[in-house]
Amino acid sequence: MAYIQQHSAELPTPVRLGLIGSGWMGAFHGESIARRVPGAVLAAVADPNVDSAASVAAQLGTAKVTADAADILADPDIDAVIIASPARFHASLIAQAAAAGKHVFCEKPGAQSLEELDAALAAVETAGVHFQIGFNRRYAEDFQSAKKDLAAGIAGQPQLLRSLTRDPGTGSIPQAARVPAWTIFLETLIHDFDTLNWFNEGAEPVEVYAVADALVEPSLREQGFLDTAVVTIRYSNGAVAVAEANFSALYGYDIRGEVFGSKGMVQAGRATETAARRYTAEGLSADTPRLNVELFRQAYTDELADFAGAVRARRDGVPPSSGDFTITPGAADARRALAMALACIESVKRGAPVAVNETAAV
Ligand SMILES: NC(=O)c1ccc[n+]([C@@H]2O[C@H](COP(=O)([O-])OP(=O)(O)OC[C@H]3O[C@@H](n4cnc5c(N)ncnc54)[C@H](O)[C@@H]3O)[C@@H](O)[C@H]2O)c1
Repeated sequence: MAYIQQHSAELPTPVRLGLIGSGWMGAFHGESIARRVPGAVLAAVADPNVDSAASVAAQLGTAKVTADAADILADPDIDAVIIASPARFHASLIAQAAAAGKHVFCEKPGAQSLEELDAALAAVETAGVHFQIGFNRRYAEDFQSAKKDLAAGIAGQPQLLRSLTRDPGTGSIPQAARVPAWTIFLETLIHDFDTLNWFNEGAEPVEVYAVADALVEPSLREQGFLDTAVVTIRYSNGAVAVAEANFSALYGYDIRGEVFGSKGMVQAGRATETAARRYTAEGLSADTPRLNVELFRQAYTDELADFAGAVRARRDGVPPSSGDFTITPGAADARRALAMALACIESVKRGAPVAVNETAAV
């Protein structure tokens, strides 16, 4: 008898996930669930662009396709949803999913204003469902090693922190004019804010000062497009952090984090795709990561495995396992990072530092 048949009685029932939004990130999450997350099944795909949903579903062997996320929310066979629609729909989808009793994984940002996010998170609280936000950097091996070291006090008292995002580019940004306003803060630097908050756990971000410009696409500056930003953040424990982003690194996708403290320094971030190096007459070279789905392939898988595991634990009444340090980013993390992004937007508008939580909406 095959192993799987012998042991099938012991295998837990898979967690059945519905994907809402099947664009760039949603399609990749769908693939991760269908191919790389043990014990999870991609049960349905919803996207108003139903051709996109159908194409993703066909590639992954998913039977249920719909243009309307409500069909997934009404399906009693679906345990939880993965929301990967554009950001402006996140808050209402979180609230609707929670009201329907579905556990929720949502891509960042959780919302575009704190009022919207608070309403969505209140629905999560009322329904008692599990909520996870898509801060995938926490699941990257090097970021987890750094966090473990920080939790063990290796860097001592944090004094300076740094996090950066340089998205891969060609020196110009295709369809830049269609990028929603303030994306650099709400959708890019929000990852850096979460890294800094996680690395500086226990401290609250107090004040931000953001400087931003269109240096890659200066012709779009007048219409408010921003592709480059630097943010200084003051924390309640006195630590000072810098977050920076640019949308067009010609050498690839570059993500780093660092904490400098009273006892030393801890760094995360992988500059090269593999450990291989080329030594030639021209010098030393190596391949660099080109795409988020290359650099963070494992991290994207592991964040969904964490989510599926938490959903399964709740469904089957198993207490969730706990480690040496916190990983799973939840409601408070989503809110803290969004509050920082919103304060940055206000800081750019005013050209001055802004207290975090002073601003509630864009
Ligand atoms: N964590 C990361 O590293 C990472 C990387 C890229 C994108 N993202 C996030 O993922 C989200 C989606 O980004 P993307 O790049 O995949 O965008 P995208 O435009 O490629 O895809 C969005 C998809 O959502 C669909 N959609 C529109 N309205 C919808 C609705 N009401 N319900 C369901 N689907 C709807 C669109 O038709 C489209 O197929 C954003 O929040 C973005 O910030 C995260």
